[in-house]
Amino acid sequence: MIVITGPTGQLGTAFGRLLGDREVRILSEDELDFQNLDAIPPALAAIGPSIVINCAAYTAVDAAEEDEETARIVNATAVGVLAKASADLGARFVTFSTDYVFDGTKAGGYVESDATHPMSAYGRTKLEGEQLAVANHPEALIVRTSWLLSGTHPNFASTMIKLIGKGPVKVVDDQRGRPTLADDLARVTLDAIDRKASGVVHLANEGVTTWFGLAREIAAIAGLDPERVTPCTTAEFPRPAPRPADSVLDSERIEALGIGPMPPYQPGLESAVERLLDSPWV
Ligand SMILES: NC(=O)c1ccc[n+]([C@@H]2O[C@H](COP(=O)([O-])OP(=O)(O)OC[C@H]3O[C@@H](n4cnc5c(N)ncnc54)[C@H](OP(=O)(O)O)[C@@H]3O)[C@@H](O)[C@H]2O)c1
Repeated sequence: MIVITGPTGQLGTAFGRLLGDREVRILSEDELDFQNLDAIPPALAAIGPSIVINCAAYTAVDAAEEDEETARIVNATAVGVLAKASADLGARFVTFSTDYVFDGTKAGGYVESDATHPMSAYGRTKLEGEQLAVANHPEALIVRTSWLLSGTHPNFASTMIKLIGKGPVKVVDDQRGRPTLADDLARVTLDAIDRKASGVVHLANEGVTTWFGLAREIAAIAGLDPERVTPCTTAEFPRPAPRPADSVLDSERIEALGIGPMPPYQPGLESAVERLLDSPWV
């Protein structure tokens, strides 16, 4: 039995679609709120899973600056408790982390062994979650990913479609990364689980761009005028949480593990945008 936490999120939904009803038990926040730490071990014990895939997280990057304690409970403490409960039950444990554990100052992409240095509360709590996962489950698989997109949830792509449809939009052109489609990530993560991968692995789609470049691609796919998107700097649009300038995730591990490679992001982006065009969020 595979347990999926965070099933209503972008990634949890992708896993749900991929796995269907077979041998899957979803645990939504309504059934298991991570802030109720004591409820986690008995909830898993009642199911007796062979694999626990944790897609739940406090993902509000800016809000976390004002509410780091809640972010820490969900992204770190609860991850440690889940990992320990999984280990006690003899279950594999998989959890997800982020490019925001890096500060974005490295020239060239980040690989798994690079030193971490989060700049934000969200990044700090996700890094603590990584550390607690391994401390409580030595065989835990921790997948770092970046710029997650899907056609199933409101996200950067749906926001851009809506804004560009109304008029000119300025988008930051000095943050680089790898957009990653939730469906691609779920598929390759299952591949990694099948190959019994453990430790930290970077999984992000092939292809590097900026938010500005991505917004123009989204406009073109949506049949809107990409020229309506103009570049600006991060300094022009300060946000509560600092973001890494260059957080391209590379991998020094996936070839040896025999997983992936992750496909280019463009085909998945096209499907996601087409799906979003029929959604209520654009
Ligand atoms: N989104 C990105 O750009 C991005 C980038 C890099 C890494 N990641 C990581 O990738 C993973 C998946 O992200 P995502 O975009 O799929 O996230 P998401 O869409 O925000 O979904 C998060 C999920 O966590 C659940 N959740 C939140 N608080 C909870 C709590 N207290 N107890 C139990 N469940 C709770 C949510 O449930 P409700 O819907 O019921 O609140 C939702 O199902 C996360 O680990 C995230 O940190 C994301």
